[in-house]
Amino acid sequence: MLNQDSEYQSCIQSSERVSWRIDELLPKDTVIDFSRRILSDALTGTEGIRCLSDQEKLMLNQIRSNSYAHLFLFLEEYAVALAAHRASLELHGKPTHMRALLRFSEEELKHQQLFARYTSAFARGFKVAPALLDNQVQVAKAIMAKSNLGVLFFNLHMELMTQQHYIETIRDNKREELDPLFCNMLKHHWLEEAQHTRLDFLEAQKIIAQEPETVEAAMNEYAELLQALRGTLNAQLELDVQTLEKATERKFTEAERKEILEAQERSYVWGFIGMGMKAPLFLSRLRALSPMAEQRVLELAPTYYCN
Ligand SMILES: [Fe+2]
Ligand SMILES: [Fe+2]
Repeated sequence: MLNQDSEYQSCIQSSERVSWRIDELLPKDTVIDFSRRILSDALTGTEGIRCLSDQEKLMLNQIRSNSYAHLFLFLEEYAVALAAHRASLELHGKPTHMRALLRFSEEELKHQQLFARYTSAFARGFKVAPALLDNQVQVAKAIMAKSNLGVLFFNLHMELMTQQHYIETIRDNKREELDPLFCNMLKHHWLEEAQHTRLDFLEAQKIIAQEPETVEAAMNEYAELLQALRGTLNAQLELDVQTLEKATERKFTEAERKEILEAQERSYVWGFIGMGMKAPLFLSRLRALSPMAEQRVLELAPTYYCN
């Protein structure tokens, strides 16, 4: 706790050092290359689906990658609210804390614009217009109805999950040839997210120092938010299958639909929930905040380790 001020200052410095502009990463007239996979199969789970041809698997990989970009835009809606709220609590308080948190919210808004630009470029070049969830404001309000500590635990999970995705499926991936444009976008996203994970930790530490008894209730809220996230992922999955049917000009049989939905649900849940819960840095950060919080995640984990 003693070094908190210098930690916030260090977050500002790191954020300034790695900061980028949307136009540098993704110019307005970007054309997406649809000849190859965009994200790794580890995050899209298309290769094992037997009822799809190679071309159809490629299309589903691309649909999933576009949904992946959109889901970040979708989920960052509550992250903007969380960071802006935490910043407002430091008004006339600690300017360094407030500035670090305002950068955090500004960066999330920038990320939303980046991902929106990506999904527009995708829609311009893909065979059909992909169907995407649009109830992010309603979901963000429902998330923000929980305690700040519950949402900070959830956000720490989400942000360290993005790190895990980047490390496991892009940086260290020597097997697959992926789309360099998308990989570069996720790399730069992560460079700014790294500071957010530190700020989530510091803000959670602040709350726990004042109200240590709230950890248990906040972890219950974290568990509820994971359940709700599963519902959101399933809703996007239904839309992905609709887009796939249109793009492939196929009407799937009951059995084919079941095979696709099962494989894709496993992939979504594993990617967004399981991979976050087992991220080593998520567990060690929780342990540092409260050993009970880490314990709770370890107890919940088997529900979501579905591969
Ligand atoms: Fe972000
Ligand atoms: Fe973030």
